[in-house]
Amino acid sequence: MMRTTPAQLHQNGWRRQAAALVAVTGLVLTMLVALANPAQAASTLGASAAEKGRYFGTAIAAGRMSDSTYIGIANREFNMITAENEMKWDATEPSQNSFSYSRGDQIVNWARNNGKQVRGHALLWHAQMPGWAQNLSGSALRNAAINHVTKVATYYRGKVHSWDVVNEAFADGGSGGRRDSSLQRTGNDWIEAAFRAARAADPGAKLCYNDYNTDGINAKSTGIYNMVRDFKARGVPIDCVGLQSHLGTSIASDYQANIQRFADLGVDVQITELDVQQGSNQANIYQTVTRACLAVARCTGITVWGVRDTDSWRSDNPLLFDGSGNKKAAYTSVLNALNAGSGGGGDGGSTSIDTGAWYVLVNRNSGKALDVYNLATNDGARITQWSRNNGNQQQWQFTSSGDGYYEIRSRLSGKNLDVSGRSTADGGAIVQWTDNNGANQQWRATITNGYATLISRHSGKALEVQGASTADGANIVQYTSWNGANQQWQLVRVG
Ligand code: XIL
Repeated sequence: MMRTTPAQLHQNGWRRQAAALVAVTGLVLTMLVALANPAQAASTLGASAAEKGRYFGTAIAAGRMSDSTYIGIANREFNMITAENEMKWDATEPSQNSFSYSRGDQIVNWARNNGKQVRGHALLWHAQMPGWAQNLSGSALRNAAINHVTKVATYYRGKVHSWDVVNEAFADGGSGGRRDSSLQRTGNDWIEAAFRAARAADPGAKLCYNDYNTDGINAKSTGIYNMVRDFKARGVPIDCVGLQSHLGTSIASDYQANIQRFADLGVDVQITELDVQQGSNQANIYQTVTRACLAVARCTGITVWGVRDTDSWRSDNPLLFDGSGNKKAAYTSVLNALNAGSGGGGDGGSTSIDTGAWYVLVNRNSGKALDVYNLATNDGARITQWSRNNGNQQQWQFTSSGDGYYEIRSRLSGKNLDVSGRSTADGGAIVQWTDNNGANQQWRATITNGYATLISRHSGKALEVQGASTADGANIVQYTSWNGANQQWQLVRVG
């Protein structure tokens, strides 16, 4: 546990352990026993996540802290704490420039006294604004908002691991644009102004953008992705993206690919408000989320939005403990996934090619698999991407043709990946064709960080998903190599 835990968790773990030890008699003996036992599969969510270099957190409500079952579970299982409501604008600045930190402090102090870290939630949000701020607009609102960010982040400086600087600023639906709000109407740059003010106030906190319905690759998450990319390009301080992950009875098939694409921008990703509708799929979905986070090195932690089902803001029993505080199947699936996960993140992609093996080629940008469209077995059938199902039409074998080049053969049809009509043009179609030893059927594979780039021997162009599409059925073409995520393929061995 101590080996892989980040420095601060490490320190906090010691503080917690030390506090527990002085509380018992036989101090020296206990300490010797504790030190002699190396970490086994951990028995709590926080300890297991820490072994993987992550945290596992929950939201806490100040009003429930006197419930001993509630606070007992919170203390035992979690090592990151979010105030469910107590650090929002209406709670911390009930009248303009008059701040009230008592309920936030109750949570922050409890967390820190018990060796836990704190996610600050949330500095600016169109909801739960105090009445006085709801009555402002334009520059008066902008100034009040920036003052709020500065004052609250300064007050909590040094105590917050990550701040949700801006919450839920993007619109639902297909626009990919900003949500209309009084904050948005102060000018499109309100988000970056908030991030700059937060950085100045607390340079040690990670600064996050947090939102919901962003769990798969969709218009809303892509809008946020584009904003983060722009912030990184222009030096606007942003360190992390929070995916709230308030989920129903299914989960986007590209959940992990979505986390990965944010991580690839050079920010951390955190699952910030996870809860999942009760039903036959609940434990599975929790497991999928946990595995996805562990599979991406920059996914640094998961927070569930409450302790027991009866504590939830939702009425569909979406949490890990039932109303009596018993562990649910969902709890066990999360703990098992944490204990089974890899420590360094790891992406599961092969780092070299085994010519006897069968691989599914998963596109880095879309998370979808290279696929012979519609199970075709004829020459000239087009190659597309499709949600991964590991079918024979998604399995490929590499055969060496010398000089570092390979033929790539479909398990379904026995035919090779082929640049149609020996094209040398950008956008030239990729089809399957009977093996003819042509240079347009030979591909040079270069694997970097678990992702392969495949370059045609004939044209020198790279195999890619056309237009960086994320849709099922999108065409595979060749295009000038530019190292785009849509030109990178994870080789997942399946046979
Ligand atoms: C919710 C709290 O859980 C409720 O107690 C409160 O009444 C409303 O807010 N997205 C967020 C959280 O970012 O702050 C919200 O929390 C849930 C949705």
